[in-house]
Amino acid sequence: MKFSIETGERKDQVKETEAKLSGPDLAQGVDISQISDGAMLPGHANGEAILLARRGDELFAIGAICTHYGAPLVDGLLVGDTVRCPWHHACFSLRNGAPLRAPALDPVSCWRVEQRDGKAYVCEKLAHVESSRLAAANDKTLSMIIVGGGGAGNIAAETLRREGFSGRIILLSADASGPCDRPNLSKGFLAGTSAAESNPLRPPAFYREHGIEPQLDAPVAPLDTQGELADDGAGMDVVDAGEPHQRVADRCRRDPELSRQGGARQR
Ligand SMILES: Cc1cc2nc3c(=O)[nH]c(=O)nc-3n(C[C@H](O)[C@H](O)[C@H](O)COP(=O)(O)OP(=O)(O)OC[C@H]3O[C@@H](n4cnc5c(N)ncnc54)[C@H](O)[C@@H]3O)c2cc1C
Ligand code: FES
Repeated sequence: MKFSIETGERKDQVKETEAKLSGPDLAQGVDISQISDGAMLPGHANGEAILLARRGDELFAIGAICTHYGAPLVDGLLVGDTVRCPWHHACFSLRNGAPLRAPALDPVSCWRVEQRDGKAYVCEKLAHVESSRLAAANDKTLSMIIVGGGGAGNIAAETLRREGFSGRIILLSADASGPCDRPNLSKGFLAGTSAAESNPLRPPAFYREHGIEPQLDAPVAPLDTQGELADDGAGMDVVDAGEPHQRVADRCRRDPELSRQGGARQR
């Protein structure tokens, strides 16, 4: 179960496949003249709710339901080749459904659109962008440290992978548990209407699969951005990188190029 942040009321999270279908059957085709430039038309195909959007001569078909808390994207805004969710302003690419801005973590589906004889037809579903877009963690020479294991830290880690960073990603958190959906804590979870399993933003397997290393109970103090120093206040490097007594800053000082990049290269 998920909750509307606007109302605080309990609300089932609507999945694309469960959404109420409305509008025309887009697989049968609609007159392109029905959709003006910059407009969105809700419809469906093969039992799934779809949003058909027009930008100039281009037509796009993506899932009609936001993957965050299930808002109807047709009530959102079309901005360039993206759509902004009306509830908490996540942003999805019309071209491939990728989630471009938080708080949505997952892509919406995407369909191929064919234009023929003045009509637009929604055809087959395109491959999901998620796995193809996240870079593999295969560069052992570069590390990125993120301080904070909340929603912001989580999305920073995912965005690094999405934008092609293939080095090590270490997520340092003072929390005892991994990134979670905090709004859910004071609503459904507290009310006993949603299970504890709905709290984590991602399951542990996700972090393993994408080479993101949450290190819990790892408070950083101080965070010295000038010296690129992250320690636990007692002079101990909080990053368990196989060399626990060596500070990140020490590694950076020996490698001026790395200092400029703002990362920590491991030996
Ligand atoms: C119970 C609850 C209900 C909420 N409900 C809503 C809602 O309905 N609507 C809404 O818009 N917002 C709500 N919020 C607020 C929303 O959850 C926050 O805005 C959001 O979590 C902020 O994300 P963040 O990642 O920036 O920070 P946080 O989620 O606060 O995460 C901060 C992270 O940094 C870590 N950290 C802090 N200091 C250190 C340190 N020195 N070293 C290492 N790690 C450190 C913490 O351990 C934590 O992991 C709610 C928050 C709570 C707690
Ligand atoms: S429902 Fe929250 S961003 Fe869309």
